[in-house]
Amino acid sequence: MTFGDTSIILMAAATATTWGIGKEQDLPWKIPKDSEYLEQITSKVYYNSTTIATLKKDRPWHNAVVMGRLSWESIPMKNGPMPHRFNIVISRNPSYKMKPFPHTSLAISIHDAIEQAKTLMEESQGRVFVLGGGQIYEQAMDVCTHILLTRIHDPKQQIVCDVFMPPVNTSLFVQASHEELEAFVQEKVPKGIQLCGELEYEFLLYVRRQSDDS
Ligand SMILES: NC(=O)c1ccc[n+]([C@@H]2O[C@H](COP(=O)([O-])OP(=O)(O)OC[C@H]3O[C@@H](n4cnc5c(N)ncnc54)[C@H](OP(=O)(O)O)[C@@H]3O)[C@@H](O)[C@H]2O)c1
Repeated sequence: MTFGDTSIILMAAATATTWGIGKEQDLPWKIPKDSEYLEQITSKVYYNSTTIATLKKDRPWHNAVVMGRLSWESIPMKNGPMPHRFNIVISRNPSYKMKPFPHTSLAISIHDAIEQAKTLMEESQGRVFVLGGGQIYEQAMDVCTHILLTRIHDPKQQIVCDVFMPPVNTSLFVQASHEELEAFVQEKVPKGIQLCGELEYEFLLYVRRQSDDS
């Protein structure tokens, strides 16, 4: 399956040793700077050769976010969908009733979601972010072009998780340098280990290897 020039970016925060991502339908931690990072990276306008014309339009969204039905239901709906992004929700139930929010749609598989997002991106020239949860990350590993990972170090092993993502397969993805990460997201990113209480975390980028990479 090919996706042309559209970047399909799996974006996740996971514990370094166990790849834990969730607990009781919520995040197992509160890292405000990571939440801000996700908000910024998934909402911003990315520049490419054709974006300049697009920028002149006052669009309500540029990028699409894709998530599983359980992650969608974990968003406090009093806030509505993730703002300034087109929200695509995956469910096996084609009759799943989403509230009639604007800029949202239902997909019946990860491939349906990606196809919908790609079509939307033809107009907005944006990027597609797959935001979880565990079931969707597992399936998205086969289709994503990039992985933006917040790796969370928990030296005292205090974080308990009940949902996990697959480890990044380094025979399929290569870890980029920090400079390559900043070039990819088109802005400065805090470098190295960051502190949040007793937790340590770092922002990383992995890029799918080309077939001719050694
Ligand atoms: N740390 C992070 O970065 C991060 C990010 C996001 C979420 N999370 C956490 O992850 C947890 C939720 O993850 P989860 O794995 O339980 O659920 P999920 O992946 O968010 O959603 C699972 C649902 O997606 C639908 N689905 C899965 N595979 C499908 C397929 N092949 N075709 C069609 N629909 C499919 C099904 O919906 P139906 O049952 O409706 O058919 C399934 O119940 C929460 O704790 C959340 O806080 C963490």
